[in-house]
Amino acid sequence: MGTAVSTTTQGQPAPGNVIRFGIIGYGYWGPNIVRNLGSLPGASIESLCDKRAHALRRASQAYPTLKLSSDSRELIRSPQIDAIAVVTPVWTHYSLAKAVLENGKHLFVEKPFTSTVAQAEELVELADKHNLKIMVDHTFLFTGAVRKIRQLIDEGTLGNLYYYDSTRVNLGLFQHDVNVIWDLAPHDLSIMDFLIAPRPEAVCATGQKHLNGYEDVAFITVYFPERLIAHINVNWLSPVKVRTTLIGGEKKMLVWNDLDTDEKLKVYDKGVDISNQEDVYDLLVSYRSGDMWAPQVEQVEALNIELQSFLDCITNNKPIVNDGRAGLQVVRMLAAASNSVAKKGELIYL
Ligand SMILES: NC(=O)c1ccc[n+]([C@@H]2O[C@H](COP(=O)([O-])OP(=O)(O)OC[C@H]3O[C@@H](n4cnc5c(N)ncnc54)[C@H](O)[C@@H]3O)[C@@H](O)[C@H]2O)c1
Repeated sequence: MGTAVSTTTQGQPAPGNVIRFGIIGYGYWGPNIVRNLGSLPGASIESLCDKRAHALRRASQAYPTLKLSSDSRELIRSPQIDAIAVVTPVWTHYSLAKAVLENGKHLFVEKPFTSTVAQAEELVELADKHNLKIMVDHTFLFTGAVRKIRQLIDEGTLGNLYYYDSTRVNLGLFQHDVNVIWDLAPHDLSIMDFLIAPRPEAVCATGQKHLNGYEDVAFITVYFPERLIAHINVNWLSPVKVRTTLIGGEKKMLVWNDLDTDEKLKVYDKGVDISNQEDVYDLLVSYRSGDMWAPQVEQVEALNIELQSFLDCITNNKPIVNDGRAGLQVVRMLAAASNSVAKKGELIYL
C-alpha cells in the first residue's frame, strides 16, 4: 500500500499525488477492491470499514497494518480521505454514495449504481454540483474481450449489427436484496451501452420467482433502432455456469465465451445474403461460410485497469466512461425490465 501524502483541497488531489481511499464493504467483492487498490502506486488505502466483526477479522488477517472501522461515517467525514469505494449491497448504495459526495469525496461505487432511477439522477446532479467524479464498477468494460469487440465494431469488421444475445447463468450466488436481473444483467446492459451507439427504444422481460421471493430466472429483450435486437438470459438456477455472448452483424458474427481462457473470442465469416427475384416466391438465399479466427485478447485484470483509470480521471480531470450517467442508464434499463416482469412481459418504452 502506498503512503498517504497531502492533497490541495479535499477531493482535489494535486497532479502526481497519491489518492487516499476509504473502502466500505469487505464481503465477497470488497477484497478484490482492496487488493487492486493496494497494488496501485497512485492510491493509498487509509481505512477499511465493514459493519460485521468477522469481515473486519478477515481483513486484519490479510492486511495486519490496515486501519479498520465498523462505522462508515468515520471514513466519509475523514479529512484524510479523498475518495471512497462503496462495495456494499445495492440497497445501501444511495445513502452511502450521497454522504460520500456531500462530504466532498470522489465516489467509486459498485454496480448497479442505485436501486431507483430517481436516486441515480440525484447522485449525478450532486457530483456535478460539487465537481466530483463518480465511477460505477462496470468491470467488464475494462476486459480485453470487450475492448476487442468494441474495436471490431468500430472498425466495421462486423458490419451493421443484427443482434446481441447473452447467456449469463450459474447456480447462485443468491442475493438477499435484489432479483437476478439487478444482480447479473448490469454486466450485459453496461456492455451493450458501451458497444452499441444507438440508444435502446424499449424493453420487455419475463421472469419467475422460485425460492426467496425474488426472480431467480429472467429473460430480457431490448429493442434498438434499425432492427437491432438484444436478448439477455440471466439465471441463478442453472446447473452449469455459462458466460456466452453471440453478436451478429451483416458482415461477420462473433462468439465470446468468457469462460474460455485461450480463445475467448471467435469471429466467423458467416452470413446470409438474400436477393429478391421478380416474385416473392423466388427469393434467392445464399449462405456464406468462410473462415473463423480467434483474435488476440489482452489478458488483464479488468478491475486493476479500471481503478487505474479512476485515479487517472481524478488526477487529470478526465471524463469517465463508466460515470454516473452510464450507471444511471443501466439503472433505467433495470427498472424498465423489472417493471415489465411485474406486468408479465409488457413492452416498456424508454
Ligand atoms: N463488479 C462485479 O463484477 C461485482 C461482482 C460481485 C459483486 N458486485 C457488487 O458488489 C456489491 C457487494 O456485493 P458482495 O457480493 O460483496 O456483497 P456481500 O454481502 O458479500 O458484502 C457486502 C459487505 O458490505 C458490508 N456492509 C453492508 N452495509 C454496510 C454499511 N452500511 N457499512 C459498512 N459495511 C457494510 C456487509 O457487512 C458485507 O460484509 C454489490 O453491489 C454487488 O452487485 C460486483
